[in-house]
Amino acid sequence: MERTLCIIKPDAVKKKVQGKIIQMILDSGFNMLGMKMLQLSTKQAQKFYEIHKERPFYNDLVEFMTSGPVITIALEKANAVKDYRELIGATDPAEAKAGTVRKLFASSKQENAVHGSDSAENGIKEVAFFFSESEL
Ligand code: RTP
Ligand code: MG
Repeated sequence: MERTLCIIKPDAVKKKVQGKIIQMILDSGFNMLGMKMLQLSTKQAQKFYEIHKERPFYNDLVEFMTSGPVITIALEKANAVKDYRELIGATDPAEAKAGTVRKLFASSKQENAVHGSDSAENGIKEVAFFFSESEL
């Protein structure tokens, strides 16, 4: 079993499509280990996206991710990282395949509805960023 972290981003929560996104995740065979709705602080968003600190989109990304509530979901499944990234589609919705979460619900490369971990190692780390083991 592998873990991956889903964040339903502020754009998708504002559009009230979180229910549809969660159903797509469940229909794809993922187990939900935990779920929280929260408002990220600037410090939390900066820390979570620290890996992108030097990228030109970093400040905009932090501003976007703190622009409204998000929903974090700890997911588990065999091959969770790869299968979840297939379900959500490419970062830029213009490049995402038909039927993917981002094709259906993202507005732009930045406001792209959901986050997904990019490796099994980061899946474990990112789940632990939002959840203590006793919450899962
Ligand atoms: P994520 O981490 O959110 O699952 O997305 P990802 O792996 O597909 O994309 P990544 O390269 O890790 O970028 C993280 C998030 O930064 C925003 N972004 N904006 N304006 C831009 O060119 C740009 N590029 C990336 C997106 O919100 C992306 O999901
Ligand atoms: Mg990423």
